[in-house]
Amino acid sequence: RKRVLSGVQPTGSIHLGNYFGAIKNWVDLQEEFDAFYCVVDLHAITPGNHDAAALKASTRSSAAIYLAAGLDPEKSNVFVQSHVAAHSELCWLLNCATPIGWLEKMIQARSISHWSPYDRFKEKARKAGEDVSVGLLDYPVLMAADILLYNADVVPVGEDQRQHLELTRDVAARVNNLYGGNKWKKLGPKKGDGARAPSGRFRGGDVLKVPEAYIPKAGARVMSLTDGTSKMSKSNPAEGSRINVLDSPDEIAKKIKRCKTDAFEGLEFRNPDRPEATNLLTMYQLCTELSEEEVIAACGDMRWGDFKPALTEAVIEHLRPIQSRYDEIVSEEGYLDGVLKRGADAANEVAEKTVADVRDAMGFLPRS
Ligand code: TYM
Repeated sequence: RKRVLSGVQPTGSIHLGNYFGAIKNWVDLQEEFDAFYCVVDLHAITPGNHDAAALKASTRSSAAIYLAAGLDPEKSNVFVQSHVAAHSELCWLLNCATPIGWLEKMIQARSISHWSPYDRFKEKARKAGEDVSVGLLDYPVLMAADILLYNADVVPVGEDQRQHLELTRDVAARVNNLYGGNKWKKLGPKKGDGARAPSGRFRGGDVLKVPEAYIPKAGARVMSLTDGTSKMSKSNPAEGSRINVLDSPDEIAKKIKRCKTDAFEGLEFRNPDRPEATNLLTMYQLCTELSEEEVIAACGDMRWGDFKPALTEAVIEHLRPIQSRYDEIVSEEGYLDGVLKRGADAANEVAEKTVADVRDAMGFLPRS
């Protein structure tokens, strides 16, 4: 079976962008793939000044949301990144195979877009001031380690992670180029090849699998409620800009009531002058699971005053079962810990093997 891996950072509350951009697709993919989904707590400390108690609480709550959203521990391995030491180890090995220019280029991209790592880095660096950490620059390499450890075939993420996936692919290819030959040799040349392998000796000798991004058609770019041209994000100080998966019906109603709209008549997708209309219709589409045509048939002639209550209801109804499962999960003593323990055991087994292969290919003396 092909393998899928993804993760969300346990920083702040999980919102509809994280849910529709990533988690909801994880649930679908677990049916067909060998699935590994982690809470990436090591990434959450890159700002360099995190609150330890908040990290712990957020890690548990994120894992509980994964399950509440439909990840089934019988089908998916759900785990915490820091429970698998190989993430940190592979990160170091990859660090030494990654040119620093690749990381610098990512955060110097001139296209200041909410969908590039540039934006994320600049914003976090601004907050950290002088104290911006090495980890913040290195963040994409840790993410590459997360993915490559599991030989993932696909990585379901939102649009903002596209460049990180490109870097992951480049790093994997580079490691294969630099060290794949050693693995090939270890497998032994074919009869008649001589001591050195002929050209093409890397084939079959890949140390790491080069993964593909899986970016959904609808849901990859969920925008802010207060500005249809900026990304819905955890770091926006305006709470009204996002809907969190655990928001109460009252909070959801209030946020949608106040959200930004426009002065056009009727509702439509993809009018470049109406980013809010596209965003809110997409949100409605995702919550109701209707097609775009069906949404237009139902809502195309509506005024904002009619559409907002319909959207409110759709969001509340979509989140209701998730919220009630969440309450059950967190109130069942020991359940979540058990799931995370089993997940970490399964993840460790795969990850240890990969990191041992990389160590071997890079020439580290095996421990006898
Ligand atoms: P993070 O924690 O910022 O976001 C988690 C997931 O949510 C998606 N997302 C969105 N999708 C659509 N619209 C939005 N407004 C929106 N905001 C966030 C993100 O694309 C992501 O899929 N670097 C990653 C975490 C990570 C990871 C990994 C992901 C670490 N290691 C390995 C995949 C595989 C991040 O910061 O995600």
